[in-house]
Amino acid sequence: VSDIKILKKFDEIDAERLFKVQRKYTRRNIPEEISKEWSMLHLEAKEILEDERRGDAVVKIADFVFLITESIHNLRLEPTPRYYTYTDVKVLDWFIGREHRTYKHYKEKCILGIIYLLHDLSTFEGESMSGFTAYNQEHQANIKIDERIKKIGDVLVEGKLIYQEVFGKEFDEIAIRREIVHHKKVIDYANEENKINGLITFTCFPRTQTHDEYAFLRTIHISEFCFLGIINTIKETIDNIKYRADAETATKCLNEACHFADILHGIFKVLRTMPYKPDNNFEYFRDETGNASAVQSKNYQELDVYLKGIDDKKKEVFSQNSHLKYLEKFAHPQFTYNFKHVLSTLDESDPKWEGVFKIARKLDGKLKTWRGLHIVFANTYLPQDAIGTGSTSGASYLKKLLDASVFDDTVIDYEIFKEEFPDEEFSELHRMLTRVSPRIGTAIDNEY
Ligand code: HEM
Repeated sequence: VSDIKILKKFDEIDAERLFKVQRKYTRRNIPEEISKEWSMLHLEAKEILEDERRGDAVVKIADFVFLITESIHNLRLEPTPRYYTYTDVKVLDWFIGREHRTYKHYKEKCILGIIYLLHDLSTFEGESMSGFTAYNQEHQANIKIDERIKKIGDVLVEGKLIYQEVFGKEFDEIAIRREIVHHKKVIDYANEENKINGLITFTCFPRTQTHDEYAFLRTIHISEFCFLGIINTIKETIDNIKYRADAETATKCLNEACHFADILHGIFKVLRTMPYKPDNNFEYFRDETGNASAVQSKNYQELDVYLKGIDDKKKEVFSQNSHLKYLEKFAHPQFTYNFKHVLSTLDESDPKWEGVFKIARKLDGKLKTWRGLHIVFANTYLPQDAIGTGSTSGASYLKKLLDASVFDDTVIDYEIFKEEFPDEEFSELHRMLTRVSPRIGTAIDNEY
């Protein structure tokens, strides 16, 4: 088949149908004949991608078609979702671009991705309130949507701050909104220069009509952009310390990482508006997430490795997930390209590096606070002693990792907990999070 014929066929793929059918029936219940049709399309795109003779124009579209039909195809083979078939995070990579680029490119893409998805979430919530959307409208009577929208606005404030720092200009709401359009054809999404509408349209397909599942998926996407943003700022910091001894640029990069971490906190606060009593809204879709768990996120686990090298407590996770097995290779004494190691080669009392340590400690505190918030999420929304969907011991796996920081004496930002999880209601968790490490006391710790 010639490239021209293939392009003609691609030109006929109806984007609205691909979007609407999934939102109407939910990802779980796509009618058999339609899911079969898209699965075939996926295989055709695969075949085109494997054919080295194909021209760039065809490859570009085949790549996009392959990705937006991949989860549907894979779920036919393995119906219980895992992280990537549940979240479509691979489309985020398409948006970022898979060729090797500068740190600045990755940071900019992550920031734009965050801002556009925040806009999408706020549009969805606003349209739900006003009745302009028909999808994901179940179980929303007890949600304070106005409060949620306000919290999305708080995250946008953080997004604007980092935008200003990385792009070196002010964020322009109007220009951004002008870019958001709905194309009729898939080919028009694939050919977009900035790929914004493909990102927004083909990444959020809940498995139920539960309202909160939309915010849950968007929280995952925005967090993934933050993880990647932090990976890039950390690598850039390492390069500036290791190869250029440039403390000023290293400090600037760490400051950017802190902004990404603030966005992680902010988007968790948005998700926290999901009620857990009298009804626990997570229960309306939790079972549907199947075996999907962000423990399978290659991006997060890599971030962990670049921050502090391999953590022995994660070995089991890496060995259980074939796509994470490659991380075991980092458990080598010669793997010194990690933040913790690089900091250990510097003298903290040297005035040259003082600023770097100060902000590195600040970042470490923010990441620990995120881990702490996450534990409280797991404790609040999951039944007690539930096994994690990623087949770890669940909340207790997360607890074991709370103290796995870059610095041994990093503490969490307790104020954020009090705000999100009041002491009176979560007293047991507050005790856990404020309990100091035995290193600070005089004797060894008791195990209880
Ligand atoms: C109701 C909300 C949530 C609950 C109850 C929850 C629960 C859990 C549990 C129990 C685990 C342990 C691994 C396993 O599943 O076996 C886990 C891991 C993880 N979750 Fe969540 N989670 C929630 C939301 C999120 C969100 C929105 C993100 C953002 C991406 C996220 C990111 C992660 C990451 C990165 C890990 C792996 C941690 C590590 O290996 O150190 N979680 N989660």
